[in-house]
Amino acid sequence: AQKALKDAYQDYFPVGVAVAPRNLSGPEAELIVRQFNSITPENAMKMGPIHPEPDRYAWEAPDAIVAFAQQNGMKVRGHTLCWHNQTPKWFFTDAAGKQVTREVLLERLKQHITDVVSRYKGRIYAWDVVNEAVPDTGTAIYRPSKFYEIIGEDYIEKAFEYAHAADPSAKLFYNDYNTESSAKRAKIFELLKKLKAKNVPVHGVGLQGHWSVYEPSEAELQESISRFASLGLAVQITELDVSIHAKEHGRRELTEADKTVLTPEILAKQAAQYEMLFKIFRKNRGVLTGITFWNVSDKTTWLDNFPVRGRKDYPLLFDEKLQPKAYFNRIVDF
Ligand code: G3I
Repeated sequence: AQKALKDAYQDYFPVGVAVAPRNLSGPEAELIVRQFNSITPENAMKMGPIHPEPDRYAWEAPDAIVAFAQQNGMKVRGHTLCWHNQTPKWFFTDAAGKQVTREVLLERLKQHITDVVSRYKGRIYAWDVVNEAVPDTGTAIYRPSKFYEIIGEDYIEKAFEYAHAADPSAKLFYNDYNTESSAKRAKIFELLKKLKAKNVPVHGVGLQGHWSVYEPSEAELQESISRFASLGLAVQITELDVSIHAKEHGRRELTEADKTVLTPEILAKQAAQYEMLFKIFRKNRGVLTGITFWNVSDKTTWLDNFPVRGRKDYPLLFDEKLQPKAYFNRIVDF
């Protein structure tokens, strides 16, 4: 019988998957339980979804995901406590619609993080505390988000401190994408170095791993892992997928070329890319403490329509019928 991902990698790292509550029943649930031993809520624990109004938390979806994990002996990675995206407007404004002060925003951040982390204390082993705080371009280390503009750069260390106080055993991560671009990697490195120097309770870095059949190269990936590990941080790949399309920034219209489907040629490229990635992951045993795929199968992936509306993507190991792709054995037999 074909090996499952979680069994193939049991001596290396947990293998996880990002889920929505709708994935947790039927054939998708079976696939998740058979293949993976860790899950991440894709959206359910983000500020907007979990805390839609000042005095209201929406616990139903995140509770269901955590309960599913517990019933099936899986770990949970929490995602995410502080992000400029998917944060409700109310967070930054008072009742009159005026922007809140640093003190008020810090208090809200503290309350939010304390409430969410405490609820799942002991059940979520790792948290993406701050997500994507570093901009892709330019030389500035800090993305000019509302958190940064209103609080200042110390919103990041505060977020880690609040999370650590609420669950001292949870492993706390800084999570970002494009971590293989040398310019952005250098800025993230500076940020993490500063946090470590100040004894901020940051324990790991999440390399999201939104890659493609064209990137990253083996050398770029190894450099990222080694560089961050040199800070004494655990490294995890937190949002793995391998797009069949070249990475682009900014939305645009669909063209004929975008209608390319999964040809044998592209499938072979994807196989080679995944083989390379897992070879490097295995090589970094002990340093890499988790690998999580972003979505279950090609049936639904966040990359559909992104950044090109109408374009389909096929970035995962399981196809639209939830079957392992033809090259799957090369990932689990090594
Ligand atoms: O739930 C609402 C629904 O009520 C509404 O009718 C519908 C209309 O658009 O939207 C639904 O919300 C969508 C949500 O996904 C749930 O499906 C949002 O519009 C949509 O923006 C949101 O996208 C998520 C995206 O983060 C937001 O930036 C993706 O599912 C999710 O995969 C993606 O995940 C991020 C990670 O958190 C951080 N790293 C990058 C990664 C990919 O962008």
